Formats: sequence, structure tokens, C-alpha cells
Amino acid sequence: MPFTIAIDGPAASGKGTIARALALRFSFHHLDTGLLYRAVGARGGDPIAAANSLSPEDLARGDLRSAEAGQAASRVAAIPEVRAALVAFQRAFARQEPGAVLDGRDIGTVICPMAEVKLYVTASDQIRARRRALELGADEARMLVELRERDARDAARDVAPMRPADDAILLDTSEMSIEAAVARAVETVRQVLA
Ligand code: CDP
Ligand code: CDP
Repeated sequence: MPFTIAIDGPAASGKGTIARALALRFSFHHLDTGLLYRAVGARGGDPIAAANSLSPEDLARGDLRSAEAGQAASRVAAIPEVRAALVAFQRAFARQEPGAVLDGRDIGTVICPMAEVKLYVTASDQIRARRRALELGADEARMLVELRERDARDAARDVAPMRPADDAILLDTSEMSIEAAVARAVETVRQVLA
């Protein structure tokens, strides 16, 4: 039976960094599910048609990490038919041997409710805005507005809103280095594997 790790949390909380590190550490597959929604938003046109015909080329576009692509992703991600079109791919990815790490907003709640490990990664708004500003070479105050707007939309939507699963372990990385956050996550997975 494959081992699934579900990692959710708000924008720039550090979930992708932790997910990549866990995948490397345990030789698991990794899927950044936010990239799917970013690619749908970036295609333009009818988002439902885009979600139903997403290709590897769409995911390889160079402009998907921008704040604008994040906003477009968050708008299409509120459309139930867009989310439904992406479910089967994510679930199939999660079933790969020996295991998989998926990070996003609804992995522990909707995509993989039976995941062996569920983490919900958070950090204060200010710290997340600072991290994202550094990463993108963007203005911190603008990033704070952007992240708050996106988080509010993601948490308020009717379908698969961003929220921790009841059995998720909360990891607040506000005061943690990347190394410390990864070490905590590795320890959590080790305990479950043992
Ligand atoms: O995937 P998500 O948007 O949640 O966040 P990320 O891309 O993993 O992290 C956002 C930025 O914060 C990256 O530049 C990370 O290197 C940085 N980061 C950090 O400074 N300290 C942490 N504990 C985690 C991430
Ligand atoms: O890296 P960051 O956390 O800033 O964003 P992301 O994980 O790439 O996700 C971009 C947007 O896609 C989010 O703001 C959500 O609206 C949407 N998303 C979602 O609805 N469900 C997921 N499983 C992943 C992302």
C-alpha cells in the first residue's frame, strides 16, 4: 500500500518547501497541486475546458509563479467543475508506490482524506508576505495585500475551502528556519512509518 502525505496551508506558508524535502528524504513522488490551478488560470479562455485538457506543456510554462498567476489560480479554483476535473489525476498521483507527497489547500480534506500523514502548515501574514517578496523580488506590502486577498477567497469558497482536516497536525513555521520546519515534518512522518 502506498504511503500518502497531505500538506495544506495558506500561500507562502512553506508547504512546498516541506513537501519537496519530505519527498527527497523518503524517496516519494511529489505533486505541487497549486501548479494545476495556476496552469488553468494562465491558459485564459474557458477555465473548465482548460482544466479538462491540461497538458504537461501547460505545467511547464515559465510565468506560473507570479502573483498575478496566483490570483488567476485562486479565481478558477473556486469553480466546482474546474476542481472536479482535477480530482482523478491527483488521486492517481497519490496512489504511486512507495508513496507520494501532495501539497495544496484541500489535500487532507478532499483529495486524500485517508492520507497516512496530514500536515497543515501556517505562518503569520507578515512573515509569509516577507518570504514571498524575497522570493519574487516584489514589494512586501503589495505581497501582504495579495496573500490576504487570495487566502480570504480560498477559505470562503463553497467547494473544498482551505481548512485543516480534523486530524491534521498544525505546523506554525513563523519562527522556524526551513531546516527546523523540515526536521519537525520528517520526525512526524517517521513516527507514523514506525
Ligand atoms: O509552498 P508555499 O507557497 O506554502 O511556500 P514555499 O514556496 O515553500 O515557501 C515560500 C518561501 O518562504 C520560499 O522562498 C521559502 O524558501 C521560504 N521559507 C522560509 O523562509 N522559511 C520557512 N520555514 C519555509 C519557507
Ligand atoms: O504557493 P502558494 O501557496 O502561493 O499558491 P499555490 O499553492 O500555487 O496555489 C495557488 C492557488 O491555487 C491557491 O491560492 C488556491 O486558490 C488554488 N489551490 C487550490 O484551490 N487547491 C489546491 N489543492 C491547490 C491550490
